[in-house]
This record gives sequence, structure tokens and C-alpha cells, in this order.
Amino acid sequence: MIQLIKGFKDILPDEIVLWQYIEDTARALFEDFGFREIRLPIVEKSELFSKSIGDTTDIVEKEMYTFEDGKRGNVTLRPEATASVVRSYIQHKMYAEEPVRKLYTIGPMFRRERPQKGRYRQFYQIDAEVFGTASPYMDAQIIFMLVSLFNKLAVQNVSAHINSLGCPVCRPDFQKALFSLLESQKDHLCENCLRRSEKNPLRTLDCKVPSCRNALKDAPSILDFLCGDCQSHFNTVKDLLTRQNIPFDIDKNLVRGLDYYTRTAFEILTTSLGAQNAVAGGGRYDGLVEALGGPSQPAIGFAIGFDRLAEIMAQNRTLPPKNPKIYIAALGDTCRNLAWGWASDLCLDGVQTEMDFEERSLKSHMKRADKFHADFVLILGDNERENGHALFRNMESKEQISVPLDDLVPQLIKIIG
Ligand code: HAM
Repeated sequence: MIQLIKGFKDILPDEIVLWQYIEDTARALFEDFGFREIRLPIVEKSELFSKSIGDTTDIVEKEMYTFEDGKRGNVTLRPEATASVVRSYIQHKMYAEEPVRKLYTIGPMFRRERPQKGRYRQFYQIDAEVFGTASPYMDAQIIFMLVSLFNKLAVQNVSAHINSLGCPVCRPDFQKALFSLLESQKDHLCENCLRRSEKNPLRTLDCKVPSCRNALKDAPSILDFLCGDCQSHFNTVKDLLTRQNIPFDIDKNLVRGLDYYTRTAFEILTTSLGAQNAVAGGGRYDGLVEALGGPSQPAIGFAIGFDRLAEIMAQNRTLPPKNPKIYIAALGDTCRNLAWGWASDLCLDGVQTEMDFEERSLKSHMKRADKFHADFVLILGDNERENGHALFRNMESKEQISVPLDDLVPQLIKIIG
């Protein structure tokens, strides 16, 4: 038997109830905040990701599903959504329509990571991006919206962590200071950090290898290097979050795994998922639109790990499955023929109705109705049909009434309210 590939998974109907609930809640909230949905291709030119996420990131160096596509050259299954949203924003000149553009998208992403709990090779993100404003008010609003979604979903054991990654004016000084420390600690660094120390020293700050952690315990804080503008931007974000009662931790080592960030960076961390503790992440990326060939437009956004969110929610909640309201037990050909139309009409009227088209005894029909957890059973045998009535049974109270066959569907709808 052919099995699915490790790191990929099926999301089965029982789980989908929760996924749909999360998706519906996110959509409604985002739309209220002025976001509009955008759907993008899963495959893009590889250079879109290397230019945006960064050549020296884990994602671009080793995790992308890239293949050659004839004349088109190398194409990649998107490892994240931001680059594609930016590409589309530039391509369709959305900046010319509205000064501030808010977009969201939901869909699968692909990273060839080592699979483990909470980490998959195909995973889903709920992604939101805002273009056209550099205001710290937007940073605070985005974080507020994200935290509010977790609150609406009643997710527990999560906390917001924020940092500022500075800007092209102040970050180089910090990188220099960090690089000096890395040079002096060379002998204690893992291979990855050694390689990174020159090209991308910031990334050494979230290395999990104990010797690196120890070597970097006295690392300078980027927050001490912020220029005046970045400092005041960060202060405003913190003040606004405090004013809105959003609890947060400042984490000077929060550097994110993608290179496009400037200023505010944030993550929502959970204690419920073992090593994979980030359930959402994002930040400002004021230089990316221009770097990808668009006009100079500031931007900020985040992505929620949908799989991880669903997993933590499933730990302490089950949603009622979507069971049929009515099960129709029609006995014999003539009754089946008559009831078939009612079943379709009831479904069309929004009453989920199941009907088994096989020839069965009444007992076996009732067993099926029980298995479906149907609220009501409509019974039609030749006797009932000849009397011009069907029996309608409430499965909880066991009460059974007779309903005239004329205009049956509207009557049933009235009875079940
Ligand atoms: P990211 O931190 O790489 O950011 O991913 C966001 C979230 O996606 C993570 O916090 C995690 O929950 C989930 N995630 C990432 N990789 C996996 C995986 N292999 N399996 C399961 N879940 C995973 C971004 O992707 C940025 N594009 C976010 C952003 C939007 N920044 C600005 N705008």
C-alpha cells in the first residue's frame, strides 16, 4: 500500500471541524480590521525567495523544494507567503490604488525540515500583511489583532515576545559589536554559527546549541544600539501594547529566521508543543518591497502556524462534529423514490439530511441513524405511505409524531425549528 511521505500529513474530517472554526474566526476578525483575502500560487521563481528570505538563511540554504522547470529556470514550492504577497503587491501596482493595503492569505507552505512534532514539510499558515505605513501604531495594531485572535480562540499557554531589529542605520554597529564577540569565542561555536558569524551574525543569537548559548551569554543587546528613530518607534509600540492591556516580554535575542526584517519583530510562543514553541511570528520589513523591484513602501506582517495552533487547541477542546439533523428511513422502492426528493430539498434548505439508498430493515436503518447521531428520523414504509403520513421521531426524547405527506418538507422544517 502506498503511504504518505514522512513530514506530510492528511487532515481528516474529524480534525477539519477545528481547522474550519479557526479559519472562520481568523477571517472574520481580519476582515473587521480591514484585511482582504488574496490567493497566490504555490510555485514561484526561486530567486523570489532567495532575494527576500536571504541566501544565508536555513530556509534558502537547505529547506526549499526547488526544481528546474524548463525555460522558466528554477522554481520553488513557497516556503512562506510574505515574498509572494510582496511580489503580487508590486506586480499589480496595488500601492497605486490605496495608500495602505491590508492583505491576508491562508494556505500550505513547504520546507524540507527534519520532521518532528509540530514541524512538517508541508504546513499551513494564516498570513497577514500591511503595506504603506511605517507608523508604530500599525505595529501595535497588528500585534493586538494577532493576540486578540488567540484570545477569541481561547488558546492558553501562549505569550507575546517582541524585539526591535533596528534599521540599516543602526544595525551595522550592532553587527560589528556582535562579530567581535563571535571572533573571540570562535573555539566555542558550532559549525553553523562559525559560518554565520561573518555573513549573518544576528542568526547566532537564537542558536540552541548549549556551547553557543554559553559563548553568547554576554552578547551585546541590539536594543542598546538602536538609533533615535528606531528607539522611539519601539517605545511607542511598547506603550500602545501596554495601553491595550496586551502582555508581552521583551526578548533581545529574538532575531527571526528570515532576513527581511527591520525594527519590530515578534513571536507568539507556546509551552504546549515541546521544542516547536513558536506558533506565530512576524515583524516589520520596510526595505523588502523596494528590494524586490517595487517603490519604497514600508510593510509589516505575521504568519500563524496553522498546524501548531490546531494542535494546541485540540489538547483541551473538542468541537461537536457536524452530524445530520434528519435521517430518512425509507422502506422499499416506492417509498425510497418518494423520499429521495425530500432528502435533496431538505439539504438545499440547510437541513443536513442523510438517506441510505440501500434496501434495509427498519431496525438496521435505526442503527444507521444512531451511528450518524441524527437528531430526528423520518420513517416511511408502505403502510404510512398508503395512510398519507410519515412518522417523525425525535431521537433524544423518543417522541414520535405523524406528519402528512403533503407539503412534508416545510412542515418538517417548522417542527425542528
Ligand atoms: P516563520 O517564523 O518562518 O515566519 O513562520 C511562521 C510560523 O509558521 C511559525 O511561527 C510556525 O508556527 C509556523 N511554521 C514554520 N515552519 C513550520 C513547519 N515546518 N511546520 C509547522 N509549522 C511551521 C514566516 O514565515 C514569515 N513569512 C512571517 C511574516 C509574515 N513576517 C512578516 N509577514
